[in-house]
Amino acid sequence: MLESCATCHDPLKHMGHPMGAKAKDPRNPNLVVDCLSCHRSHGTEFKHLIPYATTSDLCVKCHEQFKR
Ligand code: HEC
Ligand code: HEC
Ligand code: HEC
Repeated sequence: MLESCATCHDPLKHMGHPMGAKAKDPRNPNLVVDCLSCHRSHGTEFKHLIPYATTSDLCVKCHEQFKR
């Protein structure tokens, strides 16, 4: 999936968040972090195709420790 998004978007210009084999999704050990861990390709009601209203709502899904 990362490869298909990268046809048009350069992942290196973005965030620098870890993706791929070294970043296992803490919500599901069978998945690794990729573009679709943080975006929905079919659109959401929020900015940047992110499935939550705020960026911090997204981050705390995997990073409990960022919760305030
Ligand atoms: C860890 C979460 C995360 C991952 C993984 C991620 N994104 Fe994002 N993305 C964000 C957030 C948050 C924003 C909102 C803008 C910002 O804060 O930089 C964003 C914004 C964007 C934008 C619009 C703004 C810009 O920088 O042009 C594009 C395009 C984008 N992401 C594409 C991708 C693609 C393609 C991948 C996979 C290579 C990817 N993202 C992986 C969280 C993520
Ligand atoms: C055929 C080329 C193409 C492919 C493949 C593609 N995109 Fe995009 N994407 C675009 C264009 C064009 C835009 C609008 C211009 C921009 O914001 O860069 C865009 C915008 C975005 C945005 C920003 C939306 C916003 O509201 O800020 C995100 C996030 C994004 N794409 C994620 C992805 C992800 C994730 C994938 C893989 C599932 C993907 N794109 C695959 C062309 C593509
Ligand atoms: C799908 C799960 C997931 C989401 C969503 C997510 N992360 Fe991560 N994040 C990870 C994993 C996995 C790692 C790599 C292993 C680790 O350090 O825990 C990581 C690592 C990081 C790191 C350490 C970076 C490094 O180079 O070591 C930072 C900082 C970070 N994430 C910030 C964010 C922010 C900010 C957001 C929201 C925009 C976010 N993360 C969303 C799973 C996620």
